[in-house]
Amino acid sequence: MTATQPRAESGTGQLALDGGTPMRTAPFPAWPIWDERDEQALIETLRSGRWGSHANTGNVATFCERFAAYQDAQHGVAVTNGTAALEVALRGVGIQPLDEVIIPPYTFVATATAVLATGAIPVFCDVLPDTFLIDPADAERKVTPRTRAIIAVHIAGQPADMDGILDVAKRHDLKVIEDAAQAHGASWRGRKVGALGDAGTFSFQSSKNVNAGEGGIVVTNDRALADRCWSVANVGRIREGAWYQHEVMGFNLRLAEFQGALLLSQLEKLPEQFERRERNARFLDRELAKVPGILPQAHDARVTGHAHHLYVFRYDQSAFGGRDRAWFVKAMHAEGIPVSPGYTTPLYRMNAVIEERRKWAELARAAGRKVTCPSSPEEEALPNAERACGEQGIWLGQTVLLGDERGMQDIVGAAAKVQRAAGRA
Ligand SMILES: Cc1ncc(COP(=O)(O)O)c(C=O)c1O
Repeated sequence: MTATQPRAESGTGQLALDGGTPMRTAPFPAWPIWDERDEQALIETLRSGRWGSHANTGNVATFCERFAAYQDAQHGVAVTNGTAALEVALRGVGIQPLDEVIIPPYTFVATATAVLATGAIPVFCDVLPDTFLIDPADAERKVTPRTRAIIAVHIAGQPADMDGILDVAKRHDLKVIEDAAQAHGASWRGRKVGALGDAGTFSFQSSKNVNAGEGGIVVTNDRALADRCWSVANVGRIREGAWYQHEVMGFNLRLAEFQGALLLSQLEKLPEQFERRERNARFLDRELAKVPGILPQAHDARVTGHAHHLYVFRYDQSAFGGRDRAWFVKAMHAEGIPVSPGYTTPLYRMNAVIEERRKWAELARAAGRKVTCPSSPEEEALPNAERACGEQGIWLGQTVLLGDERGMQDIVGAAAKVQRAAGRA
């Protein structure tokens, strides 16, 4: 990015919301992005007649090796989606019913429901106020004798404080799983995320930075753990066993070869797209910080690569004449900038989580076992997660960050225009 100036606002500065001229009418880049290489890969798979991924060779097997290597991990086990990847990783590290797993509440619901699907109990810890990433100190406060694991979620594609999380895990003998569904290619102190702890999981769902419509993977440096995950995802078979030999409880979570083909060709595009997102995000970090009331997600100096699945910033309504986030989102949309409030409900307030956890907690109590299950979301409320979901968090999606220089200038120009108008009102 060579430009250093946001675009001057048009006309009188009257908000598009109030009938003024929008800052932008052109769309941001569409997603997915594909070319002849993707078409060719799919057609080749079609013509091969080999559509399933039962063998240890083929597109899916090659992708497992290639993606694991890309993430600095030794092993990869592809599965149907990122939610399944989390459940498989949890089962792989040995999580049992009524174990407790510490997770942040500022994440997609799957981080919690994958824990619940194993019969374990998600216990929530707060996020850091300036990054919305898991707070290792609060994670440690939530450890009980029943805690077995922590899931560090790399929200937006920025790695969580893995030194802090791994320290807590070491002190309390806990497993660490990275939920890297949003963090393809991200790195922490020069090492890619995924196998910094025991295992890491990624999603290839259609909005993700690597997309095959659906898909997921578990990566790890632990061969035995990879084999256990493979078994869970392959109806309980073992790698060298017979077809009808089922040694553990498992599911059919295999990807099809079509997805493997697309993942291989899409992965080739990631490094250039990653660079472009980072370059644009750096411009936004610098320029949006100049707009009163806009605070870009803070960056830990130990983060050496941010995947920018989302561009996150905090909104401070006091700099916008007291107008709330919903108003800001509407005003920015009218200016042609597709911001969103992102996660508006901390997961401890999500009915799906509350109901399922209550069920397991009742079973635990009936069995005379202790379990962490607050009686109401108010009892559990975590201040930083409340603020992030309730009033502060604003997102731009990864496809916006694939835009050109003009697009980034329009984002900054619109935010400045909206702030000035709100300040005047
Ligand atoms: C943080 C996080 N975890 C898990 C998932 C689940 O991935 P999938 O949608 O592939 O099941 C997602 C997807 O949105 C996510 O963002």
